[in-house]
Amino acid sequence: MSADAQHHLEIPIIDLDDLASHDARAVARAAEGLRTAFGHFGLVYVRGHRIDPGALDAFYDGFLGFTARSEAEKAALGGPGIWYQRGWTPPNTEKAVIAGGQPDFKECYFAAPEPLDPVARQQYPQIYAENVWPGGADGFREAYLALGHQLHEIGLQLLRGSALALGLEPYRFEQLVYGGPHVTRALRYLALDETQVGTGILWGEEHTDFNLLTLLPGGRFLDPSGQRAARPDGQCGLYLRTRPTEAHPHGEMVRGAAPEGCLVAQVGQQLEILTGGTFLATPHVIKAPLAAGWTRVATAHFIHVHGHQVLYPLEPFRSPETIAAYSPPVLAGTYGTKTLVDIGLAPQAALDMLGYRHYDRLEETRA
Ligand SMILES: [Fe+2]
Repeated sequence: MSADAQHHLEIPIIDLDDLASHDARAVARAAEGLRTAFGHFGLVYVRGHRIDPGALDAFYDGFLGFTARSEAEKAALGGPGIWYQRGWTPPNTEKAVIAGGQPDFKECYFAAPEPLDPVARQQYPQIYAENVWPGGADGFREAYLALGHQLHEIGLQLLRGSALALGLEPYRFEQLVYGGPHVTRALRYLALDETQVGTGILWGEEHTDFNLLTLLPGGRFLDPSGQRAARPDGQCGLYLRTRPTEAHPHGEMVRGAAPEGCLVAQVGQQLEILTGGTFLATPHVIKAPLAAGWTRVATAHFIHVHGHQVLYPLEPFRSPETIAAYSPPVLAGTYGTKTLVDIGLAPQAALDMLGYRHYDRLEETRA
């Protein structure tokens, strides 16, 4: 590989202290990093985030304590009535749209760390549902909300940096997310048995996130005895697909392992739409290990545009091409509902709630 090609595959690292600095050169350095990272890879490595690895370990301990509970106990929290938007998502529930129906090999927990907009709660009762918590696990709830809030604040900083990187007014993205249905997810990727190893089963099928920006503070591998351990082989974990180019019409698959001490931030579909594709929603995949019995815990915080905002390229990004690519404009709340149906969390009937629903009433009136 030439030095150029090598450089081309290097995902930029940015420092939050640069973004927050009063030194214009430091801010420009971070903005330039974000432009390259989000423009080509759809992903950036972030240092200076101040997330305490010990606190993250304690959070994972609490989550593993929860996942060890009985299925009946876990299934009582959340469930299909709220489209699994809070509480527990069982294995074999969510699926990536292009996965041909193969569900992901994981169980998850969902909680909203930020206050919810009461109006949107009435309009989107599932997406803005109240948090639910397991009994006798106060430490889990506190650690969860604290981590989610910290990730959210980091995300807001990155949204300001992204606006600067694109020559927009600094709060252009941030103002779209106030009161949005932000959600923090804890995930446990499940152990493969001997017969499943090497069969191409993926922990997470290739997909792009449907929100605005995703924060990943880093997960932990657990060996078959449940002890924390280093990555069991050189190929498992997160991979992302870079933007297609002439030389690489399908993009390139790049490992997304963050350097020590960095977290990962990832562009979602909403940010791609708003920027007319200038920033790329990262297709990513989670490869399972080549050994039986290993599991992994991870966290993702999803920042969403508020349900009332319209998803359409912002003014500076409108051209005949981007308008064609990202039309018709759609409310973020509608977009969320549609996507949750697509990925198997909401029922098909959820789509009947969109648009005019009073045919039945007219029928009754006419009768
Ligand atoms: Fe994802």
